[in-house]
Amino acid sequence: MEGSTPRTRLGVILGIETSCDETAAALLTDDGRLLANIVSSQAELHSRYGGVVPEVASRHHLELLLPAVRQALHEAGAELSDVARVAVTQGPGLVGALLVGVSAAKALAWARRLPLVPVNHLHGHVASLFLAVSDTAPVQPPFLCLLASGGHTLLLDVRDHATFEVLGTTLDDAAGEAFDKGARLLGLGYPGGAAIDRLAKDGDSRGFSFPVGRVPGLDFSFSGLKTALLYAVRDLGEEETGKRRADLAASYQRAIVRALVERTQAAAESIGAERIAVVGGVAANSELRASLGGAAFAPLALCTDNAAMIASAARFVDPIAYPRYLALDAFS
Ligand code: KG4
Ligand code: ZN
Repeated sequence: MEGSTPRTRLGVILGIETSCDETAAALLTDDGRLLANIVSSQAELHSRYGGVVPEVASRHHLELLLPAVRQALHEAGAELSDVARVAVTQGPGLVGALLVGVSAAKALAWARRLPLVPVNHLHGHVASLFLAVSDTAPVQPPFLCLLASGGHTLLLDVRDHATFEVLGTTLDDAAGEAFDKGARLLGLGYPGGAAIDRLAKDGDSRGFSFPVGRVPGLDFSFSGLKTALLYAVRDLGEEETGKRRADLAASYQRAIVRALVERTQAAAESIGAERIAVVGGVAANSELRASLGGAAFAPLALCTDNAAMIASAARFVDPIAYPRYLALDAFS
């Protein structure tokens, strides 16, 4: 019945994202117009633990997801009957957290006999570039993509809207994780990337000489840098660390950004890429944005986890027809 109503023919995609500590729902038209993008961050809740507690995240996704979906529909002036497919992050991420989103997506799709689109979270981050938001135009593949987030640091050869090959990854911490661990050592709370970014503006980035991770090939390593900051803070002592916090933040940020920029440029050269793009939470970093001048960056609002990027990726993924998705599982 619903299939024949004019509203359903709008072809709205409902996107759902619950892979970590952001509970998110978005509505996107089939031709890529963003109608609503709701993100309920649990970051403050997890900050008292200094990081994401998986079980706590799952419980809060349960509470926050349906209100987020309702709010997205409200903001778009839409109803559930306008939704033509449901897209959801299947992985990678925290399995318990993912399962909340996958179960909700299945229920919503099944109840309305809609197709369901399982989306890879990494594809989602890349697809944040395919959205036209305010003054940024969609980025067209092919391009070399740096995906730097709290969970991943990847160099991707993006050939088209749905296909990418991994050229390099981190051997230990992700870039965002390095920011978060550094922020913790500097007493800046969790998540700390944005706090380091802000504080670094008042500091001297040459105040401390921190090692730039250089491993062979196109991979990254940030664990040595984190240890160097640990020792610097220990050697300075509490009072001196307090006085030089901005210099420490600026020098630490500079080492992370230099590693990211060097490897990204090397990767672009190795595949002869004419275009470089940057996505993920760390793509919000102001020094990284300034250091990779010619690169395309995901719109600021879509750097950290959101569901608009999941709906965006879904435009380029084959949907699973009703009701064959009922056994769909999440993956870590
Ligand atoms: O993409 P995202 O929301 O989550 C994952 O998929 O992991 O990225 C979150 C990460 C956190 O580590 C956070 O500290 C970092 O992105 N981040 C930043 C900035 N804003 C967020 N790192 C550096 N500078 C920023 N301005
Ligand atoms: Zn992410």
